[in-house]
Amino acid sequence: ERLWLVVPAAGRGRRMGAERPKQYLELAGRPLMVHTLARLHAAFPGARLVLCLDSADSDFDSAWVPFADWRRVDGGTQRADSVANALAAIGAEARQDDLVLVHDVARPCVSVADLHRLHACLVDEPVGGLLAAPVADTMKRDDGTGRVAATESRSGLWHALTPQGFRYGLLRRALAAACERDMAVTDEASAIEALGLSPRLVCGRRDNLKITHPEDLALAERILAAQWG
Ligand code: C5P
Repeated sequence: ERLWLVVPAAGRGRRMGAERPKQYLELAGRPLMVHTLARLHAAFPGARLVLCLDSADSDFDSAWVPFADWRRVDGGTQRADSVANALAAIGAEARQDDLVLVHDVARPCVSVADLHRLHACLVDEPVGGLLAAPVADTMKRDDGTGRVAATESRSGLWHALTPQGFRYGLLRRALAAACERDMAVTDEASAIEALGLSPRLVCGRRDNLKITHPEDLALAERILAAQWG
């Protein structure tokens, strides 16, 4: 069975407020993207990689890619468009039932153990699934003026992490359908859910954080140091 890795890295990362897109910011002395690709390669050295990059990206260096089989595709307007472009680009090679793992470039702390566990859970899973972590904090909904409108039950709530893994044919159909309906798709699983299917939740480590705000970089450095430590 063949494994494809799709890494959307075409976002501008505006919430970081930095000059460069966040995937190129330094993390423990190397660009963030290098860490993410190294983790994926450590777990799946023989996988085929599709990297989604902005067509105007001038920071990327192909020497950072440790995979023997990889290609670059242009990103789209939204994350889901970037992933759809990646799937279209491998249409001639991918089989309908090939497993595709989609992983945010902005999650460099994903552990090799979690990657292997997710993969093992998905091998015999026709719908697919995602790494996820149970919500630990009490959840509040605001009233739009900065005050609490309600406390939501956190029981049964999960943070959706990545990777998220689905069969090539199913994921391509799901993203095309979501696009047609103009659905706001912030992860692959939601597009699959819109088809009436229930992706599997695979409990992952809570330190698989998505670098979003400037303070996340220092936290990620500490997480990486502790994991290797
Ligand atoms: O902005 P956010 O952190 O939600 O983006 C998640 C991931 O999707 C990032 O890895 C980002 O680079 C990627 N992305 C993309 N194409 C876009 C928007 C985001 O590949 N148009």
